[in-house]
Amino acid sequence: MNIFFGEDAYAQLSTLTNNYDKYFVLTDENIYSIYSSMIASMLPGKECVKIVIPSGEESKSIENVMFIWNKLLEAKAGRDSLMINLGGGTISDIGGFAASTYKRGIDFVNVPTTLLAMIDASIGGKNGINFNNYKNQIGLFSEPQSVIINTQFLKTLNERDILSGLAEMMKYAFVADASFLDLDSDNYMEFIEKAAMTKDEIVGFDMKESGLRKILNFGHTIGHALESYYLEKDNYLTHGEAVALGMYSSLYLSVKYCGLDEKWLFFYEMWFKGNLNVLNLNGFDVDAIYSYISHDKKNKGGKPRFVLISAPEKPMTDVEVSEDDIKDAILILKNKFSE
Ligand SMILES: NC(=O)c1ccc[n+]([C@@H]2O[C@H](COP(=O)([O-])OP(=O)(O)OC[C@H]3O[C@@H](n4cnc5c(N)ncnc54)[C@H](O)[C@@H]3O)[C@@H](O)[C@H]2O)c1
Repeated sequence: MNIFFGEDAYAQLSTLTNNYDKYFVLTDENIYSIYSSMIASMLPGKECVKIVIPSGEESKSIENVMFIWNKLLEAKAGRDSLMINLGGGTISDIGGFAASTYKRGIDFVNVPTTLLAMIDASIGGKNGINFNNYKNQIGLFSEPQSVIINTQFLKTLNERDILSGLAEMMKYAFVADASFLDLDSDNYMEFIEKAAMTKDEIVGFDMKESGLRKILNFGHTIGHALESYYLEKDNYLTHGEAVALGMYSSLYLSVKYCGLDEKWLFFYEMWFKGNLNVLNLNGFDVDAIYSYISHDKKNKGGKPRFVLISAPEKPMTDVEVSEDDIKDAILILKNKFSE
């Protein structure tokens, strides 16, 4: 898989697509409303079928996968076809899944349009959808042919989604590269390429998440539980907001289980309050949030496993944590970060 980066990265698309006969662009309604003319002129001289699904996390559904498969079938897509996933993590997750399962797999490329997708979701070949309100329960590993990152798309992204990506980018500071500790809401553009390359490097060592790649789940056990819990509520959380909260819980548990210096918990609390928006956690119910953790893919023998750290850049995987401590680590979030 290649990652192309920069303002002319987009031009790569024409070169990459020379090997195919049919082209499909999958995107969501928000992106289509802003970029429809760009999509129309995306592949000059080549016929391109547009597939547009509703925006947002709830679109990562089996119904939308069927919608995409139907569009591919109607247009007689085959192994000579390429799907271009133009969008955020929602689009790369569902698009990669639909493309990789249709006729045992057609090629796809990811063109991320959100910060979160540029620095994480579009890279690494984890594709999937939500099922029965649980995050990413159905999916597979299948890498895109290429990822084409053009930060010009961020000009139209709203502040909430920028900050969501910023939060996910901060994860690298704790598990991989302490230079991300300098990241903030003013300087994040400088970190995008490094973040994308960090993800790519980690995935390069361990595509199927049997070892090193697990570190990228830092903050995600509680983060995914929160995201699922708030998914159908009016005060939904973005993926990055949920992970940002989950990372605080993980640092809290790291102090208790891995001897992390408490100063990092205070550092992150200040970073969170200084850079991210105040969150609305109305309806917070620790037991209900905890119940989502029992479906976490990383559980072993039914017991939750966490990625924790003993210091920045010193992750520890598969740490077993007691139910009481997990609930404490969830409960503390309400007092610290809710409006
Ligand atoms: N596969 C992975 O490795 C991986 C990693 C991290 C996250 N994810 C997944 O990614 C998803 C979250 O991704 P996301 O934060 O990109 O959310 P998203 O794709 O839902 O996009 C957020 C919002 O921004 C809009 N949008 C996208 N690009 C835009 C642009 N350039 N201008 C204006 N609006 C734009 C979208 O329409 C949507 O409303 C979650 O489902 C998460 O589970 C996957």
